[in-house]
Amino acid sequence: MTDLTRRKFLQATGASLATTSLLGAATSTPPLPSSGNHEGVVISSANGIETVNIAYQLMSEQNMRPVSAAIRGVAVVEADPNDMSVGYGGLPNERGVVQLDSSCMDGPTHNAGSVSCIEDIMHPAQVAELVMDRTDHINLVGQGARQFAIDHGFKAEDLLTERAREIWLKWRAKRTDDDRLWPLGDTVPADPSLADEPRPWGTIHCSALNGAGDVGCCTTTSGLSFKIPGRIGDSPLVGAGMYCDNEIGSAGATGRGEAAIMSCGSMLVVERMRAGDSPEQACLYVLKRVAQQAQRASKWQPMLYKDGAPNFGLTFYAIRKDGTYASASMRGKPGSSKFAVADKNGARLEDCAIAFA
Ligand code: GLY
Repeated sequence: MTDLTRRKFLQATGASLATTSLLGAATSTPPLPSSGNHEGVVISSANGIETVNIAYQLMSEQNMRPVSAAIRGVAVVEADPNDMSVGYGGLPNERGVVQLDSSCMDGPTHNAGSVSCIEDIMHPAQVAELVMDRTDHINLVGQGARQFAIDHGFKAEDLLTERAREIWLKWRAKRTDDDRLWPLGDTVPADPSLADEPRPWGTIHCSALNGAGDVGCCTTTSGLSFKIPGRIGDSPLVGAGMYCDNEIGSAGATGRGEAAIMSCGSMLVVERMRAGDSPEQACLYVLKRVAQQAQRASKWQPMLYKDGAPNFGLTFYAIRKDGTYASASMRGKPGSSKFAVADKNGARLEDCAIAFA
């Protein structure tokens, strides 16, 4: 673009590169966050208390890069039959088949990898890591992802546990009609007798920052339970289910994947931190943006409370390069929603901020 055309373009759009933020209000560019003085921190969804502990130790004791530490950390949840939202034991799709989604991203290289709808492979996050490291692609889907994993030495195994199969059968028996636009539940039943939750789901996201200021992240899930075969949520989508930028920090999402996709939520959290938000402000900003979008989307009208707050669950997690971190959930009472943190003080659960209390 010549200088003249560029000037005309800026006049026509009313834009000024110095003063207009793509994210809304006019801002001046704040300084990038410094890497601060910290020894690193790892955060995850509340189901990842072991995850954050493992990831933190791998970073601090073995100097493992943050993305790989996060992937090793989530492996315990992927292998846990009692977590019915991730990996082995995850609730299946509407035909009773467990289909998993995962993605990962490495801050220093800005490389990413992901797999969608992969079957029979317990650790999709590790397959996503191989896609990131050993191919120039970003996403492998379905049969291709499964074969890629097997070619790299992963074992194919049945991931549907007896307990998950019973919950699925119960859901199927109760299903009276096409419920594909049903207002969705957002919690995984701890007990099969609670399986009338229409479509429970969970996920694990893990973001990690090391003492050198490098970030990495991953998200892994069995996705929305009883989903239409082939449905993918946000978890395998870079920018939706997770995203990091080594200049700024790392973010991820759990909950209603469609909402994280529509808002490009994880990237938006990182970009809000670039614009000067704290991690908590950034997560809350995106949740409120999602609520506005849900109010406009006609097919989401059944998913709104009378006050316009979404009745679906969505949580964002964020770490900024200076070592600050936070998580925020869409709704609930203060203190009702937690996330996991590990740093030099050990692993613990902390409260999420709430967008609509
Ligand atoms: N956030 C997980 C999913 O919607 O599949």
